[in-house]
Formats: sequence, C-alpha cells, structure tokens
Amino acid sequence: MYPNVAKILKNIPRAVADPKRAASLAWRRMFPFGITPKDPEAYRIGAWSFGNARRVDLRDILPGVESADLKIFRSYDRKRDLSLDAQEVLAICAMVSHIKATSIIEIGTSDGNTTLNLVANGGDGARITTLDLPEDWGGGFEIQVPEMMKNVTDRSRVGIQYKSSALAHKVTQVLGDSAKLDYTKLSGPFDFAFIDGCHFYDYVKVDTKNCQANMKPGGLIVWHDYGMLEDVSRAVDEWSADTGISVNIVAGTRLAVARMPT
Ligand SMILES: C[S@@+](CC[C@H](N)C(=O)[O-])C[C@H]1O[C@@H](n2cnc3c(N)ncnc32)[C@H](O)[C@@H]1O
Repeated sequence: MYPNVAKILKNIPRAVADPKRAASLAWRRMFPFGITPKDPEAYRIGAWSFGNARRVDLRDILPGVESADLKIFRSYDRKRDLSLDAQEVLAICAMVSHIKATSIIEIGTSDGNTTLNLVANGGDGARITTLDLPEDWGGGFEIQVPEMMKNVTDRSRVGIQYKSSALAHKVTQVLGDSAKLDYTKLSGPFDFAFIDGCHFYDYVKVDTKNCQANMKPGGLIVWHDYGMLEDVSRAVDEWSADTGISVNIVAGTRLAVARMPT
C-alpha cells in the first residue's frame, strides 16, 4: 500500500499517451528534488529525521483501520508545537478505535485534548488514566533532566479540555512524577499506552519500561515525538532492539507504534 505499486502500474498506459505531463506530475510527486517548499509545514515535517524505524502507512500497521469512524472533539484547539497535530490526532484515535481499547493510559496530560479524544474513540466503556506533574510541583524531577529538556505545562491548564467535557467522568487524573508512579495503584493492565511526558532519554526509557510491564497481550504502546526529538527516537530504537518488539512510525506523523506480543 505504501508505495502504491498497483497505482503506478495502472497509470503506465496513461503516461505513455501523454509522457510530458506524466513526467512533470511524477517528478513533483516522487522525486521532488530542486523544489523549494513554500508551505512552512513542509519544513516542520522535513525536520523529523531522527531514528531508524520504518515509516509506514497506518493501514499497513493495523490492517482494517481504514474503516474506523471517529469523533474528534475540539479538533483544532491544540498548540501544534506542544501537542499532537490534527493528522496525529486522527491516527491515534483510529488506533484506539480499531483495537476497541477500553483501558488506556497517557503519560503527559497537558491541556487534555488528546486525553479527551482517546477516551471518546475507545471501545464501549473505555476509560483513561492520564498523568501529569502535581499541582504544587516545585520544579524538581525524580531523574535529573537538562534544563532544555524540561517541558512542563502551566499547572492551571492541566486537563482543562477534558474537564469541561461531557466525558470527564471517563478520565482518572493522576498527579505525580512519572518516574515514581506506582502502577499497582492504577487500573491496569492497559490495552493502549500513550507515552508523551518528559522527553529526556532517561524518562522515555523508564516510562516505556513501566508501561510495557503493565500492558495486556496484543496491546499497543505509542510514543509521540519520534523523529523530531533525538532522545525519544534513540530510546525507542534501543527498546525495540533490546526487546525484539518491532516499532513502526506512522508515515506523516511523529507517532511510533509497537504491538505487544500475544
Ligand atoms: C508534550 S506535553 C503532553 C501533551 C499531551 N499528551 C497532548 O497530546 O496534548 C508533556 C506533558 O508532560 C508533563 N510532564 C513533564 N515531565 C513530567 C514528569 N516527569 N512526570 C509527569 N508528567 C510530566 C508536562 O507537564 C506536560 O503537560
């Protein structure tokens, strides 16, 4: 499905009939060398170059996902640099919908837009546990983090999007540092984990290890910021090599996806 060989073959007769136009179209779509993008989005996505995992169509990762019907709340109420972009929200919601996830965990709530959309698109009776730093957070981290890698949401904004929604009763907000989270007190095991808290390498490693230990067989772990952040990309690649569990990146997004063995 990606690249679409069948489509290329189907178009050969049309290309033979109008080779000049075909060459111009193909050049732009398949070999866009020497073209200076005018859309700033092209530069944003072009910079997602860290990591070695394969970039593949979501339909190749989860066959059948194309039939997911989604409901996206507050679709454009998001800060693209701090949260998921619209394409990523669509992809992650399609994943929870496809596997009918009912027990979801999110590390890193921020304003709760993704929290809300994950639980809205899960299976019947879906619930989500979402974690962020405490309200009275004093500036310390359980693991030492370089200043540049500290990404902390204004405490007054944590969860505001889900809290004002009709689905607030499906959300359990946990406040604490992810590195000292006591998973035995949570409602695991989980069938979907979204890791998007502190993006420092050591934190991604710890969050990944903890989530993995609390997943149901066949569940999905998804990381945000793969490709864009070196720390995230390296931690995910190493985890994949260590565990032997393959990780794919949803093409056009920063979402890395791993399916737990059954
Ligand atoms: C990138 S934002 C999460 C975005 C959110 N998942 C979304 O899709 O909109 C990262 C969040 O993790 C929180 N955070 C950072 N370090 C953390 C830590 N050590 N433990 C728990 N939460 C942390 C921040 O306060 C921030 O709200």
